[in-house]
Amino acid sequence: MNKDNSSPSARQLIFSILRFDPHLKGDRPRMERFEIKESPGMTLFIALNDIRRNHDASLKFDFVCRAGICGSCAMVINGKPGLACHTLTETLGKEITLAPLPVFELIGDLSVYTGNWMRGLNERLEAWIHEQEATDFTRIEAPMEPDLADEIYELDRCIECGCCIAGCGTVQMREEFIGAVGLNKMARYQLDPRDIRDDDDYYDLIGDEDGVFGCMTLLGCEDVCPKNLPLQSKIAYLRRKMLEIGLKTPKEICF
Ligand code: SF4
Ligand code: F3S
Ligand code: FES
Repeated sequence: MNKDNSSPSARQLIFSILRFDPHLKGDRPRMERFEIKESPGMTLFIALNDIRRNHDASLKFDFVCRAGICGSCAMVINGKPGLACHTLTETLGKEITLAPLPVFELIGDLSVYTGNWMRGLNERLEAWIHEQEATDFTRIEAPMEPDLADEIYELDRCIECGCCIAGCGTVQMREEFIGAVGLNKMARYQLDPRDIRDDDDYYDLIGDEDGVFGCMTLLGCEDVCPKNLPLQSKIAYLRRKMLEIGLKTPKEICF
């Protein structure tokens, strides 16, 4: 049963949602309009469930954690990538436009397949700790300086939501560009003393126009990152570092 806990003075929200099922023969992209009453503390997650329950059960969108942890609910909210579960409708005007994240494979409506994109990225960048010896799970973990552990943890907070990719102009022009999410991962592994890869190995991974030299410092990534990761400073650090390595050894540097 639908329990209406909105006050009589509650706003009427007007949603324009991009609808399209690429797997449905003959379907065409279109904006569809839905009206719902705002309730206290309403997030876009709640609003979309309301629309699905009371207006159109076929509306596709993704949610898992509802707590800004899994990254699956990212979408374009009034033209800007963001997490739907973390966006209160009271922070938006009464007319709200929702569209799926660009770049990623569209499943349908607001649902995109970020998982296969991120998996491809992680495989390409070998985004795991490369240890000298095979992992021995019985071995006691080696201590790490707390400040360094904090620095690594800070970068590890990335939830692979894809907002930084959707908000980056370079990605639109350069399909293979690894974006802020990829550069952030490299900054994280490069910091980790357990990873045996050296500067040249990192240069081979990101020292080109699909990596750190492709970034045009557009900064959309940091503007939209829902975890407020320090993407700008980490990309600038990596660029300086890779430039240093490139100048030290005769390598081709592409800007
Ligand atoms: Fe999302 Fe930020 Fe990670 Fe990009 S860096 S995928 S915006 S959490
Ligand atoms: Fe893109 Fe961010 Fe660089 S928006 S161009 S990755 S600074
Ligand atoms: Fe997990 Fe929004 S549902 S981040």
